[in-house]
Amino acid sequence: MLKSLKNRATIVTLCLAIGSMTVMADEPARQESSTRRDIHSFGLPEQVRVEHVSLDLSVDFVKKELRGSATLRVRRAKDCPAGAPLILDTRALSIESVSAGTSAETLKPVRFKVGRANPILGAALTIAIGDDSTIVRINYKTVPTSTALQWVEPAQTAGGKHPFLYTQSQAIHARSWIPLQDSPGVRQTYDATIRVPDGLVAVMSAESKKKTADGAFRFEMDQAIPAYLIALGVGDLAFRPLGKRTGVYAEPKMVDKAAYEFADTEKMVETVEKRYGPYRWGRYDILVLPPSFPFGGMENPRLTFATPTVIAGDRSLVSLVAHELAHSWSGNLVTNATWRDFWLNEGVTTYIELRIIEDLYGADRAAMERVLGLQELNRELKTFPPRDQILHVDLKGRDPDDGMTRVPYEKGALLLLSLEQAFGREKFDAFLKDYFNRFAFTSITTADFEDTVREHLFKQNPRIAGQIPLRSWLTKPGLPASAPQPVSKRLNEVDRLGERWLEKRFSTKELAEKSAEWTTQEWRRFLLGLPESFPAARMADLDATFHFTDRENAEISSQWLEMAIRAHYAPAESRLEPFLTTIGRRKYLLPLYAALIKTGKGKTRAKEIFAKAKPHYHAIAAES
Ligand code: BES
Ligand code: ZN
Repeated sequence: MLKSLKNRATIVTLCLAIGSMTVMADEPARQESSTRRDIHSFGLPEQVRVEHVSLDLSVDFVKKELRGSATLRVRRAKDCPAGAPLILDTRALSIESVSAGTSAETLKPVRFKVGRANPILGAALTIAIGDDSTIVRINYKTVPTSTALQWVEPAQTAGGKHPFLYTQSQAIHARSWIPLQDSPGVRQTYDATIRVPDGLVAVMSAESKKKTADGAFRFEMDQAIPAYLIALGVGDLAFRPLGKRTGVYAEPKMVDKAAYEFADTEKMVETVEKRYGPYRWGRYDILVLPPSFPFGGMENPRLTFATPTVIAGDRSLVSLVAHELAHSWSGNLVTNATWRDFWLNEGVTTYIELRIIEDLYGADRAAMERVLGLQELNRELKTFPPRDQILHVDLKGRDPDDGMTRVPYEKGALLLLSLEQAFGREKFDAFLKDYFNRFAFTSITTADFEDTVREHLFKQNPRIAGQIPLRSWLTKPGLPASAPQPVSKRLNEVDRLGERWLEKRFSTKELAEKSAEWTTQEWRRFLLGLPESFPAARMADLDATFHFTDRENAEISSQWLEMAIRAHYAPAESRLEPFLTTIGRRKYLLPLYAALIKTGKGKTRAKEIFAKAKPHYHAIAAES
């Protein structure tokens, strides 16, 4: 899974050429964490920086390509050497022509060069622009295998009649559909004109404007965002409002179910605002994607992208909405400067997600999710090499998508929880609110976070600060001994009942009586607590009463299917292929394929299913 970076020498030379920032010599760890240089981008924004991207693209479902132009407004640094080119990131883009000038009306063709492609980073596009040029236009088209684009056949949609297209730009896939400086440290505003076939609707992570006279969709995002948040969806879409500034887009067949599931969205926005300051992006809508979407959710500004697998019918998986919404503060407003600092996006977000859950659904529910999160983290920590257990992870030579483990999420959230517990909610909430205001619309490093914690939290409370091994949290593997240990009474009760049932101290019928009020979280805990060697006969026994094999809830069925593979439990095994060939969420696919491969005959089966399923997976899922 960890792909090696063949062309590392190029990147190293690039970094050396730029020089590093000055840091105090007696702080080696600090030196490491203070670097703003993004090793996953070819761009040199400290010389020439992209400030605005203007897209004019036609969506061609037959050729599976986007075709048109990106017009960039750029700014040269005052001390930028004369003749310095504009350097952009691309991946497998076909560049037709480039022109530049001092205004959109006076563009002249200029020389450009597409560098040698690096398997992880793609290729640099170096453009010779005049020192006074501010506008650069690139005419280009994408390839059908663009890693950001998922072209969904009608048969793979809910309605079955129209095709669907969606983008996934995080972490470094924006460059496979737009030539730009694809670094989370570079923020730009954008606008777009999108031409789609008749009858289809386009939506973006931007404000929708009036259509053009010739029927193209128009969008404007006038708040500066990093490239990984530029997003597009095209399909047969309907809309339902959820609140005064919230709503949901989905295929007509699903939109009412989706609106039911996400009914609490407006309340969620209100509760975050009360704690951490205003929601700054105008609208908050959700776009429900086809099941091939490789993630649970993606926090595209103004328009969260979501997997249809969260629509469980009972609102039990809406912590995903809480999570993506929380990114409107942690991630979209205050952004990780490089992918090494990814935990700043996900850890802070996971912490806020659970505060939202607590506000809306009570402390019990939040505690259950915290405990389950820690359980998943501990499972991973057991198998990860030390270097992958570190928040400020070293991604040299690696694809940033590989950094998406439970570590940045759960360990990051635990660090915040430990600060909350040490300083008290009132102080810590105030600190976070200031943090979002101080760094609003900027991209920050782990060192910036550390500095601000020391300056605005530790300094005023030195006695408490002494108890928190902040440096270890950020740079050491594992968890510090003082890490919080969340407990959930309800899950403890599940454990107790589970053990007794397992030891046959009471019957399945009695278990049914005792579990009548259990929610998805409790069932997950129950299943996770069963031994690896849990036999098929007892699975059949559970099935007869609880019907796990027929459940639609993907959190439960993915866990059940994993057990079925290990135990060779035939009734559930037959559901494996339909599950794997429709659902593309990486989180579910990876453990299931891994479990299959571990069993004797499973490897061939895994290969067969993968061959059938691959055309339906997003490149990001297929690659992993
Ligand atoms: N931003 C992430 C998804 C992501 C991370 C995409 C890294 C590409 C690279 C999103 O906010 C996320 O964390 N999604 C989770 C949702 C969950 C934690 C509720 C997911 O998809 O599993
Ligand atoms: Zn997230």
